[in-house]
Amino acid sequence: MAYIHKARDLLRAAVAQENPFEGMTPSVPDGQTLTYGSSEFAAAEEKGLREAAHATFVVVAGGLGERLGYGGIKLALPVESTTSTTYLEFYASYILALQARARHRTGDASLLLPLAIMTSDDTDSQTRGLLERNNNFGMQDGQVTIIKQDKVPALQDSEARLAPADTYTLDTKPHGHGDVHHLLLRSGLTAQWLAAGKKWVFFLQDTNALVVNSVLPALAVSATHGYDMNSICIPRKAGEASGAITKLTTRNGDSIIINVEYNQLDPLLRATTYPDGDTNDQSTGCSPFPGNANNIVMYLPNYHRVLQGEAQGVVEEFVNPKFKDSSRTAFTKPTRLECMMQDFPKLLAKEIGGKARVGFTSFEKWLSFSPAKNSLEAGAKAFAATGVPPATASSAEMDFYRAHLLKIRAVSGSRAAANLLDGPISSFADIPLETGPRIIVTPAVAVTSKELHDRVGKGRISVTGTSTLVLDGAGISVESLDLDGTFILRAGPRARVTVRDAKVRNAGWCLAPAGPDAAEEEGIRGFRVIKDNGVVVDLGMDAEGDFLVTGNGEVVKQ
Ligand code: UTP
Repeated sequence: MAYIHKARDLLRAAVAQENPFEGMTPSVPDGQTLTYGSSEFAAAEEKGLREAAHATFVVVAGGLGERLGYGGIKLALPVESTTSTTYLEFYASYILALQARARHRTGDASLLLPLAIMTSDDTDSQTRGLLERNNNFGMQDGQVTIIKQDKVPALQDSEARLAPADTYTLDTKPHGHGDVHHLLLRSGLTAQWLAAGKKWVFFLQDTNALVVNSVLPALAVSATHGYDMNSICIPRKAGEASGAITKLTTRNGDSIIINVEYNQLDPLLRATTYPDGDTNDQSTGCSPFPGNANNIVMYLPNYHRVLQGEAQGVVEEFVNPKFKDSSRTAFTKPTRLECMMQDFPKLLAKEIGGKARVGFTSFEKWLSFSPAKNSLEAGAKAFAATGVPPATASSAEMDFYRAHLLKIRAVSGSRAAANLLDGPISSFADIPLETGPRIIVTPAVAVTSKELHDRVGKGRISVTGTSTLVLDGAGISVESLDLDGTFILRAGPRARVTVRDAKVRNAGWCLAPAGPDAAEEEGIRGFRVIKDNGVVVDLGMDAEGDFLVTGNGEVVKQ
């Protein structure tokens, strides 16, 4: 009943188009912008590596992914079609790579970096199945915990009448990722992590693999600034349809730093300090209000303290109905009350008040943000209409390769950079994509720019624009590689593998339109990879000792 009352109140405000932040004055909050390849970025990564021993991770994965239209759960979608690594496997491999470094650094061979996954009725059994079938992707029993959120009744009109699913049952919908805070408290996880000496909780979304590039520097910024809550941000054009991290000050001088949706921000700015509304800065070409990528670092001691407060981590709800017409009564489809994890500052303000420290860390978009959210049709439509990134599985895949290319260029200096060529732009399902070179350097090889420099960037490496290169193994380093074609190199953690005087030439793996008989993972991208011609060197997980890979991929045991 409380749900219906709350729904009526919120729907009344939605019908009246009330701005929840009415009367507040926005300004740009405290935060830090870091550029990949700078000494500041590298120093932040090193500091982040020290903090990582005290980190815990949470993936919010209860969302249906209606916009993406994938049959399975989003965590089971491959990040890319070269290795077909799923999102969940990728996140696990990153956490395990950090864990290996933390163990090495601390000398504590039993150190674990825990992962919690929030599921919902829509995703729970498939998430559990995915983990079981793959032995938790190498994580130990007890290292991964699933917390499940409940769905809430759907509302069919602005009177908050409940929507039926059929004659006997009510329609229900996900309640939003804000449930994660209460669930972390209720499950006892935050208490457990605190008792184990952890300091940080890093919240990740289900389909943004690039976020891993921001983890270490963001941990460092949190530690340096003493942030209770630190939002990962990306530059944002004025008016762009994304939330912005904003400081809001009331008439009596109280302030809060929180995500403000773009349609709420502009009128607030016009009514107060920025008469022209949200506009781009001349120097950066972007709005001074950073775009919220919605990955968050919390300082665990204060996070847990706030969760224990009166609200028990229950985040304030909101409603976002899509009205059929200007009478604003009927909806195009049932809606529901939702809550968002980024609204946590309201709880922080209640429990810690003015002492709460909230900030942001902003990264280049190519480095940290390219989610797979949209179907090909929706992505193509959005791209054609406004030029916004399509955010399809295909664009996320190509951005993933591209980030590796740009990172290697940034850490290797001009000579090597000149030898990593750009690939052709090809259109699949009406979405133009930079299709190469398709480069993957897994977290096992490098998690920082310094490691990437030492393992790959300081060598002589040249890769043509249509090539595919995968390096996967903790002991791999490249001294000299000249690649035109496909070269996949994998090795277990105990093999030290040097690529020296390698000149790999083959027709390579190429892209073709997905076609009507394509697998769903291909259909959702609009292309498939034809893996006929290439050099694949897999030394196996048990390989030990020193190996040289040379020539056209010949392996010599040292
Ligand atoms: P999205 O904005 O991608 O929404 O969620 P969605 O519900 O997954 O996808 P659509 O809107 O149906 O297309 C952002 C993140 O929040 C999680 C998602 O799994 C994703 O990681 N989420 C969303 C939850 O965990 N629970 C929810 O109730 C909603």
